[in-house]
Amino acid sequence: MYELAITGGRPLKGTVRVSGSKNAVLPIICAALLAKSPSIIEDVPDLVDVRSICTLIEHLGAQVELEGGKLRITPPEKPDTEAPYQLVRRMRASFLVLGPMLARAGKAKISLPGGCAIGSRPIDLHLKGFSLLGADITYGYGTIEARARQLTGSRIHLDFPSVGATENILMAAVLAKGNTVIENAAEEPEIVDLANYLNSMGASVRGAGTKIIRVKGVDHLTGTTHKIIPDRIEAGTFLVAAACTGGEVLVENVIPEHLQPLLAKLGEAGVPIFEEQGGLKVYPVKQLRGIKVKTMPYPGFPTDMQPQVMSLLCLASGNSIITETVFENRFQHVSQLEKMGARIKLSGRSAIIEGDRPLHGAVVKASDLRAGAALVLAGLAARGESRVGRLNHIDRGYEQFEQKLRALGARITRKIRAEKMLHHGVHPGIYIGQGRRQEFPGEGKYQ
Ligand code: UD1
Repeated sequence: MYELAITGGRPLKGTVRVSGSKNAVLPIICAALLAKSPSIIEDVPDLVDVRSICTLIEHLGAQVELEGGKLRITPPEKPDTEAPYQLVRRMRASFLVLGPMLARAGKAKISLPGGCAIGSRPIDLHLKGFSLLGADITYGYGTIEARARQLTGSRIHLDFPSVGATENILMAAVLAKGNTVIENAAEEPEIVDLANYLNSMGASVRGAGTKIIRVKGVDHLTGTTHKIIPDRIEAGTFLVAAACTGGEVLVENVIPEHLQPLLAKLGEAGVPIFEEQGGLKVYPVKQLRGIKVKTMPYPGFPTDMQPQVMSLLCLASGNSIITETVFENRFQHVSQLEKMGARIKLSGRSAIIEGDRPLHGAVVKASDLRAGAALVLAGLAARGESRVGRLNHIDRGYEQFEQKLRALGARITRKIRAEKMLHHGVHPGIYIGQGRRQEFPGEGKYQ
């Protein structure tokens, strides 16, 4: 329905404040179901994904109030045991309610997340963990059913350090009887934030942020107040946006250690970034060099920054190679960047990006959240006007994205797509102005 119209070629300048982390807040909202009393979560970004997960836990019996970045969650006495398809399909992270539902209610029936078949976007590691904790799991007709009168601590080795599986298993294990050890756990900062929240509710979790997490099960948890960590991917996106436009931007509310893998690669590419004034400051790039990037689980280079960095590397002198090892099919932005003048060759899990290719404006579509961000960044760097469609993806994960970019001097406006305006009888050329984004949230809210 909406698109972003961007006139590129203007260096970004100024200061931007990063919101609370989307990927930290989603599991923490689910974890609030584990307690017997209310929690207050602070620095919560107002995102379509956050609203979707809130709707889901409301359906399970929780009371939720979100105001000014503060989320108050009153968990139900006992959560409902069924999470229906129309709520779960909106995003894969919905599956994170399974651990808390199982731990609190002893059973849970949930649709497969995001409408994906179990084979194509697997949740096998989540299920393996629940099964080792003593749950009986059955699936069929697009749903999973898990039952366990009492979860029991266990030793769980993950074949891959899946973020979601680590979180889901951790949430189930905190109320299990006895001790659990999760080996080859994901080490992402969002796991540490979840463990800190669980511990402040009375759980006993040690080792979060390392490959081995040890959990001593407790009888019950009590609601608490918790502040969400800053969003390292949003921070990274603004750092790269500044670099793409040759701008000078101070990015505030960051934890630089969480950004080390990205900062190292940006440094190698010639982007001057310094810790200054309590944030990270990007200075105008003199010469951008082609580099090699390989995505890996944390503390490796984040797959969630791969598309944005690809936009940047299109502008570098010399070729670059990006290898994607975390997700199988995360190069859908390539064809869109090519429309803007990029030359990129795909070879298996790698993309070879030809440097010295100035980008020009084009009409492009976001295929997913970070691909959408990458196209916006390319639009800001390109000569002429670009239009980026399918904003429902971008609205899932960036709070006030175009408002923040506009405050840095970007020429970017949200407007109704020309063909939709005609279809709905709206006069073409009417622009949806600054500050009205709330009235036009992403796809999830319309259905
Ligand atoms: C989380 C992030 C997402 C990020 C990803 C990797 C949230 C809400 N989302 O997603 O932004 O891109 O981590 O850093 O935090 N896998 C299996 N079996 C499983 C689970 C996962 O094979 O049971 C595979 C996936 O198909 C994928 C890889 O493991 O190829 C990584 O997935 P995972 O770490 O689980 O990512 P998410 O938790 O879905």
